[in-house]
Amino acid sequence: MTTKAHSETSFVSTLPGHYYYDPAIYALEQERIFSRMWVCVGRADALTLPGAYQTVSLGGENVIVVRDKELKLRAFLNVCRHRGARLCPETSGVLKGSIQCRYHAWTYALNGRLIGAPNVLNETAFQAMDFSLLPVALEVWEGLVWLNLSETPEPIEQQIYGPIIERFVGSYERFARYDVGHLKSGKTISYAVQANWKIVLENFQECYHCGPMHPEFCRYFPQYKSGVAYNGDEAATLAADMEAFSITGKANRPHLPGLVPEDLRRYYGIVINPNLLLNLFNDHVVIHTLTPLEPDCTRVTCDWLFDRKETERPDFDPADAVELFDLVNRQDWEVCALTQAGMTSRAYRNGGIYVPVEHHIRAFADFILEKCP
Ligand code: FES
Ligand SMILES: [Fe+2]
Repeated sequence: MTTKAHSETSFVSTLPGHYYYDPAIYALEQERIFSRMWVCVGRADALTLPGAYQTVSLGGENVIVVRDKELKLRAFLNVCRHRGARLCPETSGVLKGSIQCRYHAWTYALNGRLIGAPNVLNETAFQAMDFSLLPVALEVWEGLVWLNLSETPEPIEQQIYGPIIERFVGSYERFARYDVGHLKSGKTISYAVQANWKIVLENFQECYHCGPMHPEFCRYFPQYKSGVAYNGDEAATLAADMEAFSITGKANRPHLPGLVPEDLRRYYGIVINPNLLLNLFNDHVVIHTLTPLEPDCTRVTCDWLFDRKETERPDFDPADAVELFDLVNRQDWEVCALTQAGMTSRAYRNGGIYVPVEHHIRAFADFILEKCP
């Protein structure tokens, strides 16, 4: 049993090794975290046409996210109400006005209502409304689609606003200036990271590794060489000889339109539990969405977002931004996999320690222990 951190000590314990590979812990997390919290599953503008859908794995379920005829996004458990066949076996596509089960051809409208059931729909004893697809709570926040499998989900703001306001020291307004919901994806890369999702999240939260692992990143944000990720209310400040977070260090596009002078040389990294990372730069935003696939494997989908007007320019080229964070990503995934490799060792049975510049991560470990003791 891991105990809560003692604030008077300089070194505090991590989670024990088995939290990062034990299938029983993984199953508990799926039930207590990914089935009860709001989970980000992608960008709303990935589904524009009526009938456009994606399927996502969440909390042991498979969920269809579909844009209906009125262009409203809806989510349903991907299970036929007749005999339980999976309705949409593909990960994405466009439905032609309805969802039809391949097995006995029950047909559902895009709002989930059962509209076809051969030979039984007209029988008086059959109540079609009792066999609609089972809905899943869905919200769009800042252009991102969030699902919650709970039947009584808490308001999404309760989960999301806290970390943002904490990061911006009480001011949601400073975050709102980035207007993330109106940015457009210029590039998406999906990575299969050979590590537990918590290793990816913990790695993002500390910069003790930035000096050894990210020499290039530290050229842009020299304070990270010292390993300090958070310093009161200060965001990291761009080095004096850099114009932007681009592979050349030069500014290749105007700053995001809502920003004010005090924002222009800042970088904010924000974690929204359980699975979203936000990186705010002056001319683009990078988001990472984590999907746990196995106890020791996580899919990380990374989107580079730009001002919509920039993406519509004929000469728009996001490569300067993509190349740089892709490099940082790959450095991170390498060391996450190395960490995963150590989790099953008897050397890590009782876990390791967070050094002082990593202490803030213990709050994440405590969050996990509170949900999955
Ligand atoms: S299982 Fe879907 S129609 Fe029979
Ligand atoms: Fe990193």
